[in-house]
Amino acid sequence: MERPFDPTATAAWQRLAGHARALAERRIADLFAADPARAERYSLEVAGIFLDYSKNLVTDGVLADLFALAEAAQLDAWRQALFRGEPINESEGRAVLHPALRATAADLEADGLAALAGPLAAQREAFLAAAEAVRTGTWRGVTGAPFRDLVHLGIGGSELGPKLVWEALGEGRAQGPRLHFVANADGEALPAVLAGLDPARTLVVVVSKSFTTPETALNAELAARWLADGLGLREPTASPHFTAVTAADERARAQGYAPERIFAFPEGVGGRFSLWSAVGFSLAAALGRAPFEALLAGARAMDRHFREAPLGRNLPVLLASLGVWYNAFFGAAVRAVVPYGERLRRLPEHLQQLEMESNGKGVTRDGRPVHWPTGQVVLGGVGTAAQHSFFQLLHQGTRFVPVDLIGVVESSGADLRQRRFLLANLIAQARALMSGDSDPALPPHRRQPGNRPSNVLLLTRLAPETLGALIALYEHRVFVEGVLLGINSFDQWGVELGKRLARQLLAGEESESWDPSTRALLARLPGG
Ligand code: F6P
Repeated sequence: MERPFDPTATAAWQRLAGHARALAERRIADLFAADPARAERYSLEVAGIFLDYSKNLVTDGVLADLFALAEAAQLDAWRQALFRGEPINESEGRAVLHPALRATAADLEADGLAALAGPLAAQREAFLAAAEAVRTGTWRGVTGAPFRDLVHLGIGGSELGPKLVWEALGEGRAQGPRLHFVANADGEALPAVLAGLDPARTLVVVVSKSFTTPETALNAELAARWLADGLGLREPTASPHFTAVTAADERARAQGYAPERIFAFPEGVGGRFSLWSAVGFSLAAALGRAPFEALLAGARAMDRHFREAPLGRNLPVLLASLGVWYNAFFGAAVRAVVPYGERLRRLPEHLQQLEMESNGKGVTRDGRPVHWPTGQVVLGGVGTAAQHSFFQLLHQGTRFVPVDLIGVVESSGADLRQRRFLLANLIAQARALMSGDSDPALPPHRRQPGNRPSNVLLLTRLAPETLGALIALYEHRVFVEGVLLGINSFDQWGVELGKRLARQLLAGEESESWDPSTRALLARLPGG
């Protein structure tokens, strides 16, 4: 694969720039008038997800050149390298293994990863069997009581995916133990959760790929103290009330965790892609094995689609290409993601990490500064509440913000009237963003320019399979976007400096070289 890839040097990019100039004068609404079949042609359904991308400022010519860009970027070769477990995360010298977590043994073998099939299946079986043991009460606390509450301690990718799925599918519905998430080490979040719990019936699940993340370590320490006080345990982490999920098994052992209660996953699984691994242990325990496996099956269906569908009928390719189109040629630094329905309220937060930690990069794979825009800022909220807050800017502001509107057609929790209300609002917003309202009878402050693009994604129902497919869709969207932009989507070096400085500040390594502002702020640190 050609490594230094400069998308702007491709003929496709130059043609896209030309299209963008020509389309500056066109309106999306006119594109519909010119092509009565547009809505039908620019929509497709895959794995329980219907995508209507017809309300975008694109023509067949634009799409053809976006796909030409994908070809110039050697998307096909990169995609094969991803699924074959080649070390495409070059700055960390690692393969990218999240698709392997949900692949069948036959898929892995076909991709030359037969050697991985056994270890991956063993890791999966270990945490799924343990999750069932928690559910059925075979794995119990020291008093012999089964667990009623699971406290999942983790941050970033070690929290957001499982929390999204739990709130979408489990919360208030699942029959198993209750699941609580604590990420922040602010000293308030964990005590607020523990206050309502019985230590004898609580299992603490410490989730950290590196097992060095201070927020998670601080919370684990607090939880250990709470268990020690409540149950008189001398070594809480060694007790059946504590379990670790990590890719650094030796660190967990060194902290006293019992080896049989440490669930591992491979280094090659990035935190923000780790939901499918043992990071989903507490989720599987609370939700049940079958729903968790259905989640994996949904993601697998999206993997297959991504590998097999031609570019023009390929959901991740379409969404990523549209993202690059607006970002590069229309200055769309921000994209909004708005799920309609409270059960999907964590999706924007999950996508913020997934997209911004992956594609918020300033250098190409070979380390040269990029001179084209990379990852977009992801803005998000839940519909319809978001309509009553930031949508004003989307409709009349001076920023150009493309929107993904995500709805659920069947939803068991709500009555028909509410479901219709939500979906009608979603559809109305897509229409309003596109058509605007330029009635000359209106005063200027009431007119809406319109011509603002949106994708509508409708899930047939909020089920494990469709949710798995939706999350995998956005994972592959990130990957394709990274390939088109010539960057490595799988490292995150930008988060390191701040962590290091915080460590130094806390260790009292005051440095004369620090600026006066930092020194003055430091003087305000509690405890001197
Ligand atoms: O600081 C960023 C990050 O490294 C994320 O990439 C990761 O998901 C999160 O921290 C948590 O890391 P860990 O799972 O190692 O505790």
